[in-house]
Amino acid sequence: MTADARPPGPNANLNLATPATDAAGRTGHPAARLELKELTKHYPGAEHPAVDRLSLEVPAGEICVFVGPSGCGKTTAMRMINRMIDRDSGEILLDGRDVHDRDPSELRRDIGYVIQQIGLFPHRTIAENIGTVPALLGWSKTRIAERTAELLDLVGLGEEFAGRYPAQLSGGQRQRVGVARALAADPPLLLMDEPFGAIDPITRDRLQNEFLRLQKTLGRTIVFVTHDIDEAIKMGDRIAVLRTGGVLAQYATPEELLISPADDFVERFVGADRALKRLALGRVRDLELLPVTKVHDDDPSDWVRTQLAGAEVPYPLVVDAEDRPVAWLDDADLTGDRIRGAAGSEVAIIDEDTILRDAFSAVLQHRVRYAVVVDSRGHTLGVLAASQISNVLLPDGEEALPEREAAP
Ligand SMILES: Nc1ncnc2c1ncn2[C@@H]1O[C@H](COP(=O)(O)OP(=O)(O)OP(=O)(O)O)[C@@H](O)[C@H]1O
Ligand SMILES: [Mg+2]
Repeated sequence: MTADARPPGPNANLNLATPATDAAGRTGHPAARLELKELTKHYPGAEHPAVDRLSLEVPAGEICVFVGPSGCGKTTAMRMINRMIDRDSGEILLDGRDVHDRDPSELRRDIGYVIQQIGLFPHRTIAENIGTVPALLGWSKTRIAERTAELLDLVGLGEEFAGRYPAQLSGGQRQRVGVARALAADPPLLLMDEPFGAIDPITRDRLQNEFLRLQKTLGRTIVFVTHDIDEAIKMGDRIAVLRTGGVLAQYATPEELLISPADDFVERFVGADRALKRLALGRVRDLELLPVTKVHDDDPSDWVRTQLAGAEVPYPLVVDAEDRPVAWLDDADLTGDRIRGAAGSEVAIIDEDTILRDAFSAVLQHRVRYAVVVDSRGHTLGVLAASQISNVLLPDGEEALPEREAAP
């Protein structure tokens, strides 16, 4: 145990009790509720405050994303929370208690922190880096080793990394170690400053997904900083959009932000394609499906035509004996006595769990502008029309814009 990291404070001995771990890997800390009230920081000599009267509340167990252009005060705001930077004024309450009433080193053990420039200890192995806070908390060697192995696996690094030093890793690998280190003692609050910034888009996507899955189990309170609005929309339960000068422009759920940006700045920051971004939020199961006329091989064509009269979806769908979609038929396929599924056209089949963005591209790739939605066993649930998806893009009550309707 080296002393250079976060030397135990005067109360350290009071905190050495090793909390029991439950089945989900939680060490028994409940997630914390975070409240910022009028938080302000003005660096000496600077023209504008870095953070200007920032007020917001993060409910326990939620991810709050700070997003905004470079220099707008995201890192400063985050570092005031664990007192790495002193605030000028305002309050920071963790479960109602001001962080300034707490011993700083004790506070930092309760707050996991992933810093923007990774910040691993260069002379310690990866395992020692990850085990930093558990060691300060007095965990047994065995328990630290187990936790380290579990976390290395979680961030997609093999156990062979345990004995290496930070300089022997790539930037993206170091960043993952940073995430593992912050999670080590399963703190009630996690501060993550651009934790996936130096990682390629594919790995980043995977880490984001893994992190969200993990968060479903752990339910930690997380403040997550990024300058990437897509990452903010994906990761955030709530998003705080900051503008230069550290002013909060909007604090809202991703959906609210995309539907009604508070002003021009937020609208521009969210992007001209904000309507399309909303498609990443919804799933097919959220939409009311259209009923479909289901028919079977060898049904009489006349009978099929009568079934189709007045149907919203003007094509019959051939399904097999298990109710699985086989083919769409059109008028030309109804000229013989009996219908033949093999004569029809290919069906776009999507699972009800598909996100709307992927469903939209699946529908657009097929000649018939409908996709058949199936459950996990492949049984037909109903039909999704391209127009239903484009309606999702419109704010409530707004008429379809001509150029959006014009999509083929
Ligand atoms: N130690 C410091 N002394 C003086 N000014 C500082 C200091 N640290 C940051 N600043 C200034 O405060 C403002 C906010 O900086 P901060 O690092 O919080 O921005 P950020 O939103 O995290 O930016 P980025 O996206 O580039 O990381 C900037 O104008 C920056 O130059
Ligand atoms: Mg920053």
